[in-house]
Formats: sequence, structure tokens, C-alpha cells
Amino acid sequence: MNEQLTKTLVDCVKEAGGILLDYHNRFKTLHVQSKGSFDFVTEADLAAQEAIIRLIRSRHPEHDILAEEDRTIPGQSVTRWLVDPLDGTTNFIHGFPVFAVSIALEHKGAVVLAAVYDPCRNELFFAQKGQGATLNGHPIAVSTRQKLKEALVATAFPWREKSILSVYLKGFTQVFKRVSDIRRSGAAALDLAYVACGRCEGYWELGLSPWDIAAGHLLVKEAGGSISDFTGGGDHIWTGDVVAGNQALHEFLLKIIKETLGGNVSA
Ligand code: IPD
Ligand code: CA
Ligand code: CA
Repeated sequence: MNEQLTKTLVDCVKEAGGILLDYHNRFKTLHVQSKGSFDFVTEADLAAQEAIIRLIRSRHPEHDILAEEDRTIPGQSVTRWLVDPLDGTTNFIHGFPVFAVSIALEHKGAVVLAAVYDPCRNELFFAQKGQGATLNGHPIAVSTRQKLKEALVATAFPWREKSILSVYLKGFTQVFKRVSDIRRSGAAALDLAYVACGRCEGYWELGLSPWDIAAGHLLVKEAGGSISDFTGGGDHIWTGDVVAGNQALHEFLLKIIKETLGGNVSA
């Protein structure tokens, strides 16, 4: 992969991460707008996104960009940047220090480069298709823990679709009874990055968007993990329903999801 693309990717997440950290340190005065039911955008999301788009545009004007807070940028290129300038906005608004910048580069329909950057911990998760995944330059791999009773699993509540809470909780209950514990971090990109580096054994969430999943998808794949949609197929980036883990936990979570939720519940 072109070194210039990798440099752009890393420069983007680092620059945006610096902007987020600056706003995080004065989060009590943050300007917040509602953009839908329980869904918010802050001046930090917008400032980070603006910096990312400016950088990509200046170096790769021929590429397309799909960014969460600006869906208006049209495009027909085979190369596209999928940008979440601030993953974990709800945490961010409350000064809860779990958030990240997540950017993936897609070429001819496949994610080929990915970065998730946590500025609070200065942790850069990076992956290149076919070349493995790293954390701050060191190779990472999914957890080798196979036993359910030892597994730590991440998830998220269906905050946007509260009407499906009871069906979601059926699956949650089945998983919770069998595993060591469950976490809800509030940042999907970090959940996937944490699966990739073995901090948790599995993760599932429904109703996400491509910019939430694309970078984490490549991290998990390149770290030797399994990731799919709720049917076991490969459409998770676009359906928004994702289940990931080491092989054992992916299999277990997928089975519970199929039994309790059926196939693609959010489409
Ligand atoms: C959200 C976070 C959260 C997940 C939501 C996402 P945002 O992203 O990843 O963990 O549960 O579904 O929308 O809105 O903070 O970029
Ligand atoms: Ca997000
Ligand atoms: Ca976001």
C-alpha cells in the first residue's frame, strides 16, 4: 500500500485526536446540538471532521470521502475514506474519557487501511490489508481465551431503537449468564479495536453505520479474529449489525444472536 496513504491516514487521526483532546479538557463548555432522537453532535465532532477532510482533500483530491457529519460530499471514485471524526460522542459530552477517531480507506469495495486513535491513552490501532494489525507499532492479535466463563464481552444497548430493547435483552441475558462479564464502552470503534488486541474476547452491536465499523473491521480481521453480520455473512459494514471476536466467541455470540434476534434486525 502506498506509504503516502498510510501517512495521510495517521496524520488525520493524530491531528483530529489532538483537536478532540483539546475540547475534552474543557468539555463543560462544549457546544452540543441534537441531530435526532438521543443523537448529538458537538463542535468537537465538526472541528475534527473539518481537519480530516481538509487534509485528505489537500493530498488526495481525487478520492471520495464518506464522513459521519457531512453526507453531502458526492463521489464516484473507487477509493473512498470512511470517517468517524469522533466515535463516542455521548461519552465525550459528559467528559467520559472513552472516545476515538476512526478512519478507514476503502479501495474497490474492500477496506485496505484502517486507523483507530484514542487520544486520551495515546493509542493508535492500525491495520493494512494482508499485513497484520498493530497498536503503537507493536503487532496485536485477538485473545486466545476460549472458555466462555473466562470471556469478557463488549456490547451496546439499542439506544436509537429503544423499541427493540426487549428482544436485545433476550440475547444479552443468554450471553451474560455464560461469560465472565459484559462491558458497554460507548465507542464502537474502540470495542472492535479491543477485540483486535485481545482486551475482550467478543463484541456485538446492532444498528451501526459504516464509519463506526469499517476501520475496526480490518483491525479484527488482520489480528486473526472473526467478524460478520448477524447471519454470519460479510455485510456488517453496510447492515450495521456486527458480531466479532476470536473464533470461539464469534461462534458463540452468533449462535445466541441467531436464536434470539434472527437475521438482520436493523435494516
Ligand atoms: C456511537 C458509538 C456507540 C455506539 C453507537 C454509535 P458516535 O458512535 O460508537 O458506542 O453504541 O451506536 O453511533 O455517534 O458516538 O459516533
Ligand atoms: Ca461512531
Ligand atoms: Ca461520530
